[in-house]
Order: sequence, then C-alpha cells, then structure tokens
Amino acid sequence: MSSKQNISKKSHYFCVAPMMAKTDRHARFFHRILTKRAMLYTEMIPIYGIIKGKNDKLLEHNQEEYPLALQLGGSDPEMLAEGSIMGEEKGYTEINLNIGCPSPKASNGRIGACLMKEPKLIGKCINLMKSSTKLTISIKTRIGIDDMDIGRPLDDFIETVSDNGCKTVIIHARKALLKGLNPKENRNIPPLNYSRVYDLKNKFPNLNIVINGGIKSIDECKYHLKYTDGVMLGRYAYDQPYILSNVDNELFELDNKPISRIDAVKEYKKYCINEVKKGTSTNLVTRHIMGLYHGCKGAKTWRKKLAKIKDVKQL
Ligand SMILES: Cc1cc2nc3c(=O)[nH]c(=O)nc-3n(C[C@H](O)[C@H](O)[C@H](O)COP(=O)(O)O)c2cc1C
Repeated sequence: MSSKQNISKKSHYFCVAPMMAKTDRHARFFHRILTKRAMLYTEMIPIYGIIKGKNDKLLEHNQEEYPLALQLGGSDPEMLAEGSIMGEEKGYTEINLNIGCPSPKASNGRIGACLMKEPKLIGKCINLMKSSTKLTISIKTRIGIDDMDIGRPLDDFIETVSDNGCKTVIIHARKALLKGLNPKENRNIPPLNYSRVYDLKNKFPNLNIVINGGIKSIDECKYHLKYTDGVMLGRYAYDQPYILSNVDNELFELDNKPISRIDAVKEYKKYCINEVKKGTSTNLVTRHIMGLYHGCKGAKTWRKKLAKIKDVKQL
C-alpha cells in the first residue's frame, strides 16, 4: 500500500499506538504482516534529535509499513514544520504531534502532555506544520492534565487545534497527572473516561476522533466504534499481537482469512534474515514476536525458544 493512499473514510478505524522502545520499524513490519489496513505509528521522535542532531536516520522505516504516521515530540513551531517536511519527503502518510507523554523528562523539554496547558503555542505549531506539508496533521493527547477541568477547557483545547488545521485527534481517555505519578502509573491509575471522548465526537462531529486506552478485544473496538471514528490499541496489540490478524476481516470487513501464526512467522523470518545480514542484532527482531502465542498451549516454550535463538534461521 502506498504512503500516498492518504486519509480516507475509515483511515483511522483501527490504529496501533506509538510506544517507545516497542513499536520500532521491526515491530511495525511484523504488525503489517498481520493487518494490511491498520494505521501504524512510529514511536515518539523528539524533534530536536532530528533537526539539531541532524539525525535523519531516526526517520528510517520500511515501505511495507504504510500507512504509517510519524510521531514527533516538541513545541518549537519552526522545527516541527521542518520535521514535517522531512517526514513527507521520507514517505510518511501522516505527521502526529505528541501532546500526551507524561514523563518528567518530556515536560522539562516542553514536550508531551504538559503542552495541554499551552493551547496558543500548540495552535501555532499545528498551523505551521499544516502549511508546510500536504500530509494530515494529527495530535495524540489526553482528556486533561493535573488540575485542568476536563469540561470546557478540554473543548477549548480541541477547538484550538481544530481551528488551526488538525482534524484527526487521538485521545487517551484518561488524565495525565504530571505531579505525582510516573509514566507507567499515568498509563494505569487515572481512571478511564470513555464517555468524555464520545462526548467530544458529538461536539465536534467534523473531527476524526480516535479513542485510546485500555482496549483489549475486537468486541470492545466494535463498541467504541459506535461512538467514535477509530480505536487505537497499545499494550494489548504489542503484547498479544495475534489480535491484529482479525482486524482486516472483522473491522474492515475485508474478505480475507486471517494469516496463521505459522505463516506470519515464515514471512517475518525472511525479513529477520535480511535485517540480521545488514547488522541488526537477533534479539532486536525476535523480541517483537514473543507474545504471538499468548494464551495458546506452548506459549511459554515459544518464548523460551525465542529467548535462546542465536540465528534467525532457526525461527
Ligand atoms: C512502553 C510504552 C511506550 C509508550 N510510548 C509512547 C510514545 O512514544 N508516544 C505516545 O504517544 N504514547 C506512548 N505510549 C502510550 C501509548 O501510545 C498509549 O496511549 C497507552 O499505552 C494507552 O493505550 P493502551 O491502554 O492501549 O496501551 C507508550 C506506552 C507504553 C506502554
């Protein structure tokens, strides 16, 4: 699928979440074997690393991963615009701005969730990103941070991003508590509030609203899709990736049979052999298929075998 097959109806119907240290290009290649239709996201790439560090290697990916969004972290409008142009030149389908990361390091660098309190700055970033590229500009955010009221101030925030040209909004349906909780706790402790996300869809019917947080089955996806334009799964999709094999037929209603686990491994094995030849270490490619047999008989043996593999040809 070409990167240019851009944002269409159902473009964000099912998305795999960006996850640092997990959804790298190898994981995404594997996920694409399981689903041809899901929208995939890179991990967050800090804009300073790309621009100041002059490191466009950070943007490397495989053509097979499309449709693929590049997630940027940062709040410097000019740099983000430059990063968006680079993303477009490299073939990405969409540029996503991270306004949800709760880590203290991110906040110190004016990256992530802390920016929910700076709507004017975010508006400027989006505006400049939007005018620099033809690609869709999306954001991934939360329903609020710290003492921010999740009523009117959240509506105002969404209105600002929308007025500046962002029409796809991915929302992790819980607040981020920047004072007091670490990033892991911030993914689990603040309560999920799905109805607030449904409410945003009602208030902003023209926006593409994608719901994220705690979704664990295709049936749950179907339920959320009654009220939103898309679902995004993170930990569940990574830890139990075989769920992705049912996305195309069950959600996109394509007429294809889900690929078997064995065939998926066979296909991934070819990729792994090639990657290892280019110098990638074996465990960097094999780690993404640890959860493939989750819930099946022999899952433990599979994980043990994978952990010991020295040569990907043994897969
Ligand atoms: C290890 C890990 C790394 C993450 N890295 C990112 C990231 O780079 N960018 C981002 O927007 N969210 C990141 N997240 C948050 C996820 O994208 C997602 O919003 C969160 O896990 C909630 O969805 P889930 O309950 O389906 O996992 C990360 C989550 C995890 C577990």
